Amino acid sequence: MDETNRAWAALEAAPRRTLAELFAADPGRVATLTVEEGGILFDFSKTHLDGALVGAFADLARAADLTGAREALFAGRVVNRSEGRAAEHSAERGQGAPESVARAAALHARMRALIDAIEADAFGPVRHILHIGIGGSALGPDFLIDALGRGSRRYEAAVVSNVDAAALEEAVAGFDPQTTLLVIASKTFTTSETMLNARSALEWLGEGGVADPYGRVIALTAAPDKAIEFGVDETRILPFSESVGGRYSMWSSIGFPAALALGWEAFEQLLEGAAAMDRHFRLAPVERNAPVLAAFVDRYYANVRGAETRAVFAYDERLRLLPSYLQQLEMESDGKSVKLDGTPTGRATAPITWGGVGTDAQHAVFQLLHQGTHLVPVEFVAAIEPGHSYDEEHHRQLLVNCFAQGAALMAGKPSDDPHRAYPGDRPSTTILIDRVDPATLGALIAFYEHRTFANAAFLGINPFDQFGVELGKQMAKAIDSGGLDFDPSTEALIARAGLGG
Ligand code: F6P
Repeated sequence: MDETNRAWAALEAAPRRTLAELFAADPGRVATLTVEEGGILFDFSKTHLDGALVGAFADLARAADLTGAREALFAGRVVNRSEGRAAEHSAERGQGAPESVARAAALHARMRALIDAIEADAFGPVRHILHIGIGGSALGPDFLIDALGRGSRRYEAAVVSNVDAAALEEAVAGFDPQTTLLVIASKTFTTSETMLNARSALEWLGEGGVADPYGRVIALTAAPDKAIEFGVDETRILPFSESVGGRYSMWSSIGFPAALALGWEAFEQLLEGAAAMDRHFRLAPVERNAPVLAAFVDRYYANVRGAETRAVFAYDERLRLLPSYLQQLEMESDGKSVKLDGTPTGRATAPITWGGVGTDAQHAVFQLLHQGTHLVPVEFVAAIEPGHSYDEEHHRQLLVNCFAQGAALMAGKPSDDPHRAYPGDRPSTTILIDRVDPATLGALIAFYEHRTFANAAFLGINPFDQFGVELGKQMAKAIDSGGLDFDPSTEALIARAGLGG
């Protein structure tokens, strides 16, 4: 048995105590299992981690060479081996190989200059930002603007991703073509949905009386040549590095609409918050390291206790897009079946990430969490400062409910009536943010990135490729061109919808 398998075997053999037993055994449990970093408190004490498990996971971290993997990441070495690339999102926030940090800073300077020009009316009056992109080229900017742009919005922004033009139609309904800036975001600048939406948006500008629709386009891409081919003027292309992955790209020029809508200062604070989390991930010992402890929790429930999903509930409207942002980050990164060397992992990899917003979810899906048959590790994310100026009772009730759910999941409640009994001992993590601002949001998102990376290191998988999405794209092309023979079910659907040509 090699060292990694020995570490897994020790984890599987570790005694299983209930949360109540763990709290009774260790009065210092909350302090030991709580980490504070970047204005965020991470409370892992309501999970089944204890000193012995953390020790066993530390052995796994050593066996899996987490330190080596982390240093390779920050040094800009090739960590995405199947594609022969580095993964340099942290260089965007000043943490990485010096030449990559310098290149990212130069590209940020270019982005800032363009923002200054827009603010100086070089494009005429701009009131609306229509951002077109999908996946990593949409979810990050959308989340940032939705979380931080409320109330103080300088521009009205809409992010359109779905190829269903009902989304585009809805987005532009209140926009004036004369004062709209069209932002086309695509790392590859070949994604079919984005290209089609971009063309339709250009048409909308033209029909709205804009004499030179291409003159109102900003392209965000790692393939500037493709953007030029599409018709975008070179001066309005904001490139970013090929070594920044799509789902890790909000820190690069993909963050442009957020930097424009929220202001450059806010964007810089976002980067600084993320950089603080980078340093924490790099330097803190594993037992005080928030992303690493979170990955311990993830691996414990997925691999030792057999949990197939994990649920994230944002107890804050500003963070309502967090669950969908995390779905891409976690499932596209760690939803793999083979290790770096191509052999099967032999273990469950990414759990299914799902979730919603509290308190709404309490009245919809929490029944299953409290009494269902599935083990679901839950994550609560809340902020101490409210995001509105209404009666403070609203925020008080929000937090009261959030904390009550974690307590109820853990404590449970016996009853002679089985329908009214709560088994309890159900784990949760609470992430409590002092205030939702650019710096804490940057730290929070970087925390999730590093947690995803640490999970991948423990599993020996590559979190930076996504070949799983390619087959569906090829099949779509084949249906589109009437190319292949499909299975009878698909053939019948194609015929029924009249797609057969
Ligand atoms: O199809 C998956 C994917 O490649 C994601 O990884 C990516 O974020 C998204 O599509 C969009 O890709 P692009 O930025 O190249 O348009």
